[in-house]
Amino acid sequence: MVASNRGPVSFTRDGSGRLTARRGGGGVVSGLSSVAGRADLLWVCAALSEPDRAAARAAPGGLLGPGGGEATPDAGAVRMLDIPAGTFGPAYNTIANSVLWFVHHMLYDTPRLPQFGLEFRRDWEAYRAYNAAFADAIAGACAPAAAGDPPTRVLVQDYHLALVPRMLADRGAPARVAHFSHTPWAPPDYFRMLPDDIAAEVLGGILGADHAGFLCQRWADAFADCCERLLGARVDRARCEIVHRGHRTSIGVHPLGVDAAELAARAAESDVTRQLAALAAVVGDRKLIVRVDRTELSKNIVRGLAAYRELLRARPQWRGKVMLLAFAYPSRREVPEYREYFAAAERLAAQIAEEFAAPGWSPVLLDTRDDYPRSLAGYRLADVLLVNPIRDGMNLVAKEGPVLSGRDCVLVLSREAGAAAELGEHALLVNPFDVTGTAEALHRALTMAPGERAARRARLAQAAAAVPPSAWFASLLAALGEPAAPAR
Ligand code: G6P
Repeated sequence: MVASNRGPVSFTRDGSGRLTARRGGGGVVSGLSSVAGRADLLWVCAALSEPDRAAARAAPGGLLGPGGGEATPDAGAVRMLDIPAGTFGPAYNTIANSVLWFVHHMLYDTPRLPQFGLEFRRDWEAYRAYNAAFADAIAGACAPAAAGDPPTRVLVQDYHLALVPRMLADRGAPARVAHFSHTPWAPPDYFRMLPDDIAAEVLGGILGADHAGFLCQRWADAFADCCERLLGARVDRARCEIVHRGHRTSIGVHPLGVDAAELAARAAESDVTRQLAALAAVVGDRKLIVRVDRTELSKNIVRGLAAYRELLRARPQWRGKVMLLAFAYPSRREVPEYREYFAAAERLAAQIAEEFAAPGWSPVLLDTRDDYPRSLAGYRLADVLLVNPIRDGMNLVAKEGPVLSGRDCVLVLSREAGAAAELGEHALLVNPFDVTGTAEALHRALTMAPGERAARRARLAQAAAAVPPSAWFASLLAALGEPAAPAR
């Protein structure tokens, strides 16, 4: 069983009010898409919109897909939870996206935020209720048919569901449970900004699992440090396990990469080649720097633009000879900080154009449409790929780009991305706060000799493809032991 906030399918209504299913978006879903259709897999997720709720309510026992309600293309059996909007809203928008996400990515403007007052306590109750709805559904679905059945293996995804493992243990669910974090984990000095009881509840929630998984060693270490220092748990670093209140949780590092063959096949389809031709016509014989992100505070889009401006100011030889293509597709527009950030990126892009644009040359194109084929075309055409997050669990863009590059693109990569652990040696690493350092790295990337570019690109592509999603999924299952009876 897999449990995640965003599921493998989402619904829209057509003109006549009929529900139509399509594949859900987001990083977790693409990571798990290759396993989504497995016959013995049940995926538990939340209804995220009104059409989702309608589909969930109409489904017998809330079950979509084979044997249930609305069909789920390529997604197998899905249990979509119709959690009341008054609970879902504060749990997802406030606690998950504006508190836990901010803590793990260290995004607070601390002179002003956070403020953990009464409103926060009320929202935390909603987060508990939302986690409890998942725990009830999972516990209900993993009851064994007969004594002696092996326990169901449950993979709980991400910070939205940090309390679920403990809740499953409290319910006595016959399950082996792993919790996997797709984000970074905050170091203790930052994590302890949370009120003490809440910090303990989050850590203790995950420690209800048999296994806690992370994308790189750095995040696993930070989690262990928090458990040791803030919870007084016993951490055995040699055996990679944490013991708390007599319960043992193993800790594992499970990097996630891309399925290179599948990605290359997708990038060879006609919608991508059409976009490629259109982009190539715009770029001409200039060098091309590309970035592809959700419009997300942690992605550091504004400092990336500032670094590009510095490049053009400090190295006039690039004026008219280079373009920056920034794909920043919209995300989390319900969170006010995101709307402001989006506007700041647009303002800076306009300032760069004002300062440098010349007839026949636009120095920067900031494209805010969600256009996957266009992003793939950008990867194929890039001379330099800029990935400079403030902090990132992994960052799959850093892996997709080198796999698809047709021009031996150089990767300029933040040392604060989880991907730096695997790719750092072959990329140009930058401190994401150092705008001048990033501008210099862009210059170095643009002037790198062809032989070195090719050698680095080949090694990046190899590292990126080393752990495709199917292998990542298998490694998490393996951490929970032998195969179990199918989920019901
Ligand atoms: C990114 C993160 C995941 C997270 C997801 C949620 O992909 O890497 O950790 O689960 O965002 O995005 P959403 O759009 O569902 O809020």
